[in-house]
Amino acid sequence: MDLFIRNTGEEECICDVLILPVAENLPDAYSSLAPALSRLSKKVLKEFRAEKNDVLLIHSPEDIKPGRLLFVGLGKSEESSPEKLRQAGGKALTYLRDLGMRKIALSSKVFSSLGLSPVHFIEGGVLGLYTFDRYRQGKNGKAVKSVTLLSKPSKDLEKDLAWTRILTSAVHFCRDLVNTPANDMTPTHLAEAAISLKRKDLSVRVLEKKDVQKLGMGAYLSVAKGSAEAPKFVVLEYKGARKSPVAVIGKAITFDSGGISLKPSEGMEKMKYDMAGGAAVLGVIKAASEARLPLHLIGIVPATENLPGGSASRPGDVVKTITGKTVEIISTDAEGRMALADAIGYAKSLNPRAIIDIATLTGACSIALGSEAIAMMGNDADLMSKIRQAGDRSYERVWEMPLFDEYGESLKSGIADLKNTGGRSGSLVSSACFLKEFAGEAPWVHLDIAGTAWAEKDKPYIPKGATGIGVRLLLDVLREMG
Ligand code: BES
Ligand code: MN
Ligand code: ZN
Repeated sequence: MDLFIRNTGEEECICDVLILPVAENLPDAYSSLAPALSRLSKKVLKEFRAEKNDVLLIHSPEDIKPGRLLFVGLGKSEESSPEKLRQAGGKALTYLRDLGMRKIALSSKVFSSLGLSPVHFIEGGVLGLYTFDRYRQGKNGKAVKSVTLLSKPSKDLEKDLAWTRILTSAVHFCRDLVNTPANDMTPTHLAEAAISLKRKDLSVRVLEKKDVQKLGMGAYLSVAKGSAEAPKFVVLEYKGARKSPVAVIGKAITFDSGGISLKPSEGMEKMKYDMAGGAAVLGVIKAASEARLPLHLIGIVPATENLPGGSASRPGDVVKTITGKTVEIISTDAEGRMALADAIGYAKSLNPRAIIDIATLTGACSIALGSEAIAMMGNDADLMSKIRQAGDRSYERVWEMPLFDEYGESLKSGIADLKNTGGRSGSLVSSACFLKEFAGEAPWVHLDIAGTAWAEKDKPYIPKGATGIGVRLLLDVLREMG
């Protein structure tokens, strides 16, 4: 889909439909338009309440060029925000797409009166239009071809729109990876997706089983043992600046059956999304390199399946991590932290100025926070506050959980340095206590996206399925960190 900016009058724009967003108490936003349009909009706005995400579609009067007009409500002007625009954009564009509209124009008048940028509306629109139909025969053919913003062009607006293209494309890329079933999204496929991102300033290395064996990643490898699929430990390096790097690590279990500690069969099909953290990291690196952000970024994606094959790890097994710490496996279903422990240990050897890991780590996360917030824990208050603010801006909101030392006491093992689970009680926090042992002194933050990576129902700009969570959040943080 193409996004344009055109300095054309609303009545002059040839399109299937012209979107006229309206705020509840700014009814005369369109009084400056040509008489045919301003009279009509005045009339319509006597009845249209402009409540949040309301839509009203009408045919245009004869003497103007757009075929139809869509009024879309933004809610009260004093409560307007970038997020309200994203939602209205998602609602408006999916509504028009479902009616078969292809060429769409968007008036920018009301955005200027609200003091907000129209790019948020467009961002929500593009994100909302995402579909995943790779596995369906025949397409329904309904697709928006172009969205044209009617506005005076400016350098800033062009720049914001360019960023929106990069950002939304990264979210779509991430969603595609997560939605793809595990038989087509093995560690090898995921590594290939990473390799496809290679470009100037972005290198990709795939460490094979023998490489990680040499490095001593016994915890990560213990997860891979039960699967016939080869593990792939993917390291991406984007060098957009000569600075000490930020490391972002994404859990990438391409399918989590639980291993020998087998999960119940109900809902197990959803465990293809256990690589959503890794997919988010790939999306972040893709966008950072396309936008040439002035950063040094290292992406680490320890990919493997967790299956209960004949050579699978058993509860009670003890393995040694890259840091030398040993771990007793209590549950083979607590596999994410095993992969992350070695990935964090590996990241530390690169002397990063920060380590951020993102993972669908615990069922307890979605019990605690449902699908509205990411759980955050870490050892660096400053980095956490940056992430919280980025969460508010991107609306991929994070909530800090209390990483008290006492939660870690349940991880004491009778035989090894640590055990991999301390049981269900407090497991959202104790999983982070486990990771903290491997971060040591390095500034580190953990983000649990188990509740937010998959949407059970459509939201205005997040269709059911993979949400792509983390991509917009982390890019917002990284742009701020510079
Ligand atoms: N991938 C799961 C967590 C998960 C559950 C993500 C539901 C998304 C939806 C993780 O590997 C897991 O199995 N965690 C266990 C840990 C337990 C054994 C300590 C859990 O949360 O039940
Ligand atoms: Mn598991
Ligand atoms: Zn898992």
